[in-house]
Amino acid sequence: MVKVVVCGAAGGIGQPLSLLLKYSDLITHLALYDIVNAIGVAADLSHINTASKVTGHVGKDMLPEALRGAHTVVIPAGVPRKPGMTRDDLFRVNAGIVRDLAEACAEHCPKAFILVISNPVNSTVPIVCEVFKKANVFNPRRIFGVTTLDVVRSSTFVHEIKPQFEPHLNRITVVGGHSGATIVPILSQIKNVSFTPEEIKTLTHRIQYGGDEVVKAKNGAGSATLSMAYAGARFTTSLLEASVRGKRGLVESAYVYLGSPGAERNLHSTGLEYFAQDVELGPEGVMNVLALSDLSAEEEALVKTAIGELKANISKGVKFVTSAP
Ligand code: NAI
Repeated sequence: MVKVVVCGAAGGIGQPLSLLLKYSDLITHLALYDIVNAIGVAADLSHINTASKVTGHVGKDMLPEALRGAHTVVIPAGVPRKPGMTRDDLFRVNAGIVRDLAEACAEHCPKAFILVISNPVNSTVPIVCEVFKKANVFNPRRIFGVTTLDVVRSSTFVHEIKPQFEPHLNRITVVGGHSGATIVPILSQIKNVSFTPEEIKTLTHRIQYGGDEVVKAKNGAGSATLSMAYAGARFTTSLLEASVRGKRGLVESAYVYLGSPGAERNLHSTGLEYFAQDVELGPEGVMNVLALSDLSAEEEALVKTAIGELKANISKGVKFVTSAP
């Protein structure tokens, strides 16, 4: 039995993400939770002829049954950005939503993998971890901030200027966090492709602020949903391949707590508790956080800038939980 729960399943990301997960033969039960419309979305998806069962759960009273027995919980619940907003601007609304969902997860499925999509990821992941710590069920290997969209965008944008780079075959490491200047693509380590300094600068900026292109183009109707659903499904599938099928050598970038095995090196070098990095996935989630190495001088400088911003974002998330009565 592999039960995957999507919290925020009726939303712009939640619906296409649930559709993509319905395709997965690794999932036996897809539970869709939202404060609205999840029963309709579940009824619709349940007619697709793949083997998994789909159930819909609406409202707080139905949250425990949605979460019970979960192997993985994916959280795209909350409000998206409008033009002119940063991800940090979402904190006021989304922090409480993510905290409440995390409290329910800590109670009803404390051993599940928790995949946080809701922004600002730099702060919402510390919120989930602090809630789990408070409930004495914290396992740093099992909580992830989903930064896969930055990786997906990197491959696409590099391919656009270097057509020989196959976007679906090559993964680019993106470290730091998941907002603006905290997103640091490691372009210097891409094999068989070279860039001019100007190309590096333009690409880095486009990857850091790629989300703004979508927010602007949607003109007030939200942020990235379809590409995020793709990225979220890709990360979820990799984690399931590693944890359910025992597939080895699967590496994805993710924003994780640096108390995880192998991460001490980076905790030492960044001084941060959380950082997005390449993570080797295994049966228990994070198997190993791969070391940051061989950065170019420009990337070192970007990491330094990212660290300053991340420090504030992390502390905001931690305080939201620890200084609450
Ligand atoms: P949306 O507004 O279309 O959908 C959000 C859904 O969450 C709605 O169906 C809403 O009813 C539901 N919701 C609200 N409060 C809830 C609660 N307490 N429990 C369960 N569900 C609840 O928003 P969209 O576009 O799907 O974005 C969702 C989140 O994902 C936003 O915070 C957005 O910033 C973030 N995002 C993250 C990305 C990433 O790379 N990690 C990329 C793009 C968006």
